Amino acid sequence: MPSEFLYKYFTPTSQGYRVRSDLQEHLLFAVQNLLEDPPFIRIDLISCRNFLIYIDGEAQQQVLSNFHFGLNPAGYLLLGQSEHLGSLQSAFATVDRRWKIYKKRDDLGGSST
Ligand SMILES: C[S@@+](CC[C@H](N)C(=O)[O-])C[C@H]1O[C@@H](n2cnc3c(N)ncnc32)[C@H](O)[C@@H]1O
Repeated sequence: MPSEFLYKYFTPTSQGYRVRSDLQEHLLFAVQNLLEDPPFIRIDLISCRNFLIYIDGEAQQQVLSNFHFGLNPAGYLLLGQSEHLGSLQSAFATVDRRWKIYKKRDDLGGSST
């Protein structure tokens, strides 16, 4: 990590560095099994890079659907270089095709009933 970020956002401790306490109030650190646990909600940004490529198509679509559900309106999703939205394509607007940055659209598309 660049030292400017380390000094700005972390506090040195005897065991290393901790995220500044005033920042911690805005952050939730938690373990989440994306395949089994309920999705978090009211999220502004999800960065999920190089995980979807390891699971099958059906599971990918379920995880992406959970991401869409958990994001705030106009929340952002970052995927890895080789990852795709698949049937959730219409549920997101593309912000940057090369860097796989997407923005949530209000209505979930691609799964019409
Ligand atoms: C190939 S690594 C990618 C790490 C990092 N995002 C990157 O791009 O370098 C895949 C990550 O997915 C995590 N992972 C595997 N199964 C998971 C699951 N069911 N739920 C959440 N994370 C999982 C692993 O712990 C690992 O950190």
